[in-house]
Amino acid sequence: MTDFARLAEDIAREAGDMLLAKRPTMSGVVATKSSPTDVVTALDRASEELIRARVRAARPGDRFLGEEGGEQGGSSDVRWIVDPIDGTVNFLYGLPEWAVSIAVEVDGEIVAGVVNVVPRGEVFTAALGEGAWLGGERLRCNTGVPLSRALVATGFGYGADRRAVQGEVVAAVLPRVRDIRRGGSCAIDLCSVAAGRVDAYYERGVNHWDFAAAGLVATEAGAGLGGLHGRPPNYGLMLCAAPGLFEELHDLLVALDPERDG
Ligand code: IPD
Ligand code: CA
Ligand code: CA
Repeated sequence: MTDFARLAEDIAREAGDMLLAKRPTMSGVVATKSSPTDVVTALDRASEELIRARVRAARPGDRFLGEEGGEQGGSSDVRWIVDPIDGTVNFLYGLPEWAVSIAVEVDGEIVAGVVNVVPRGEVFTAALGEGAWLGGERLRCNTGVPLSRALVATGFGYGADRRAVQGEVVAAVLPRVRDIRRGGSCAIDLCSVAAGRVDAYYERGVNHWDFAAAGLVATEAGAGLGGLHGRPPNYGLMLCAAPGLFEELHDLLVALDPERDG
């Protein structure tokens, strides 16, 4: 494992332990009469602050992009890209599909990625050119799966208008595939492609911090990752699957115009 991957893993584990210890229960949230969203937001921020502090201590000159605090830092070529909790709604409801996601980018290229799926005790790691790993097991995505037999993960944004379009798109995808899964964490969905737990994933409206780390886990496991029409993965649309299935799903999605607004 590279130094970046090792440091990212140590920090992701520490943030995960903190979140597990402080995670509110729904009943606890109701009992204190505070807004469930506020409780979670405070822990999102606490997790990001912990990660930011550890990165600053170990690598003071590096830049940092976090979902909660935005971009900080100087002109270094090294940038840490962090989602302090991916799968916030699952975190709130006590579902085990949430993760701490930390990526390291050097000169615009992701070189290390760690996704700590805290409730499951699973830490996915990847380093550029060195493979993707879950514990001691090297990951390979499923290959040779045609679209008609593909288990496809997807997700939906938070805005109602956007969701209406996402609903139309998924309604048209569903009859063409084995089944659909909506796990609630983009980072875990991508790791699931890497581990062969689903065959493909697509989503509109995901941000850099959602997919920076897990995207490397997926590509190091042999999956293709990109946007529509040869674009890199982006907010408009991102899809991930083994070569072959990637193109089939891409062409189906293009026909459905998934980047439209209403
Ligand atoms: C969300 C999750 C979800 C995806 C949303 C993301 P958050 O991130 O990754 O699976 O469908 O698009 O915004 O809000 O839990 O960090
Ligand atoms: Ca996220
Ligand atoms: Ca988040």
